Amino acid sequence: MSFNAGAVIADFPILSRTVRDGKRLVYLDSGATSQKPTEVIDAESNFYRMHNAAVHRGAHQLAEEATDAYEGARSIVAQFLGASVNEIIFTKSATESLNLVAYAMGNAPAGNRFQLKSGDEIVITEMEHHANLIPWQQLAARTGATLKWFEVTPEGRLDLSNIDSIITSKTKVVALTHQSNVLGTINPLSEIVKRAHAAGGVVVLDACQSVPHMPINVKELEVDFLTFSGHKAVGPTGVGILWGREDLLSELPPFLTGGSMIENVTMTSATWAKAPKKFEAGVPNMAQAVGLGAALTYLNRIGMDQIFSHEKALTKYGMSALLEIPDLSIVGPTDLEMRGGTLSFTVGDIHPHDLGQYLDSQGVAVRTGHHCAWPLTRKLGVPATTRASFYLYNTNADIDALVDGIRNAQKYFG
Ligand code: ALA
Repeated sequence: MSFNAGAVIADFPILSRTVRDGKRLVYLDSGATSQKPTEVIDAESNFYRMHNAAVHRGAHQLAEEATDAYEGARSIVAQFLGASVNEIIFTKSATESLNLVAYAMGNAPAGNRFQLKSGDEIVITEMEHHANLIPWQQLAARTGATLKWFEVTPEGRLDLSNIDSIITSKTKVVALTHQSNVLGTINPLSEIVKRAHAAGGVVVLDACQSVPHMPINVKELEVDFLTFSGHKAVGPTGVGILWGREDLLSELPPFLTGGSMIENVTMTSATWAKAPKKFEAGVPNMAQAVGLGAALTYLNRIGMDQIFSHEKALTKYGMSALLEIPDLSIVGPTDLEMRGGTLSFTVGDIHPHDLGQYLDSQGVAVRTGHHCAWPLTRKLGVPATTRASFYLYNTNADIDALVDGIRNAQKYFG
C-alpha cells in the first residue's frame, strides 16, 4: 500500500479544525504529543461505553470482556515491538517507566544483579530529556553510585571518542535516548550496547521519539529495557510501555506494591506475581491500554516503513527550506543520515518564545524553550530553540506554512 497523506489527514478529526480566527491548523508539535485518529478515540470511548470493569478481578461478563481487551492490547504491543507478551508492562507514561526501572534497581537487595552501591557507575548522555536524566541522578544519589555521561558534539551527535573511559567494568546501567527530542539525532546503539554488555551492565533505551516513527524490533536492537509513551504514538495519554527482557524482569524487584502484583500475602509479608503483573499494582489504565492497542494497529496498517520514509522526505524538504532562510541556524545535525523529523532552530535575535507566538498567530503550532532537556540546550550555548516536529499527517504544505511564518516573523520583528 502506498502512503496516502490525504487519507491519513482525514483520519485525524482535529486536523480539520481551524485556529486563531479561521486559520488552517498546521500541527508541528508531535514531538510533544501526537494527534489521535478517530479509531483510537473510538476504541477508548467504546471501552467505557461497552466493556468497562476492573480487569483480572470480577466474576462477571464485563470483567471478562475488559480483561480480554486489556490483555489483547498487551499482545498488540508485544507484536509491534517483536517482544514476548510477558515482557510488556503497562505504565502511565514513559516517565513512569523510567522511574520504575530506576526505583526498582534502587530496591534491589544484596546479591541481586541490579543492586547499586558506591563505586558502581550509571551512564547517561548529555542529550537526555529530563525523564531519562533525573531518575538516574536520583538513583545515583540514593545508592552512592557515580553518574557519568557521553557528551554531545557541536554537530549534535554523541561523542563516543572516550567510550573506553565512560563504559568501564563498573558500569551497571547505560540509559540513553534512541532519538533526541531536540536535535533529531538517532544514536548509534550497537557499539554502546556491546560495551555495556561486555561490562555486565544493562541498556535502558528511551524510545519515546523512535517507536512512533520507525520500525522497531527489540531483539534486533539487543537492548535490555525499552520505553515509550502512548500519546506520542497516536495513542491516548495516561499510558506508557516498559518492555524488559523476561529474565531481567524476573530478577528486578517491584516498584509500586499493592493489589494485583502479589502471589501470596500474610499480615506481615507478601510474595510477588511474575512479570508483567509484578509491575502493575492496582486497577490499571485499561481504557488507555486499549486505546494504545488501537493506535499501534493503526500505525501498523499504514506501515512503519512508510511512515519512516514519509518523515524522511519531510525532513529533507524541511531542512533545505529552513536553511535558505537568512539568519536561521539549525540546532542539531544538518546531514540527513541517522536523524529523524525533529528540526530545532534559532532565527537571528528573535527570541524563540516570540517566534513561537508569532507562528501560532499564523496557525502554525511549534514548541519553544529547552524542550525538557535543559543541560543539552545549555551545552549547545542556546537559551532556547524553536522546534518543528513532523509526523505521518504532515505534508510539504505544512513546512511551506512554517517557512512563510518565519519569513513574516523576520519582517515583523525587524
Ligand atoms: N519530551 C517531550 C517533548 O519533547 C515532552 O516535547
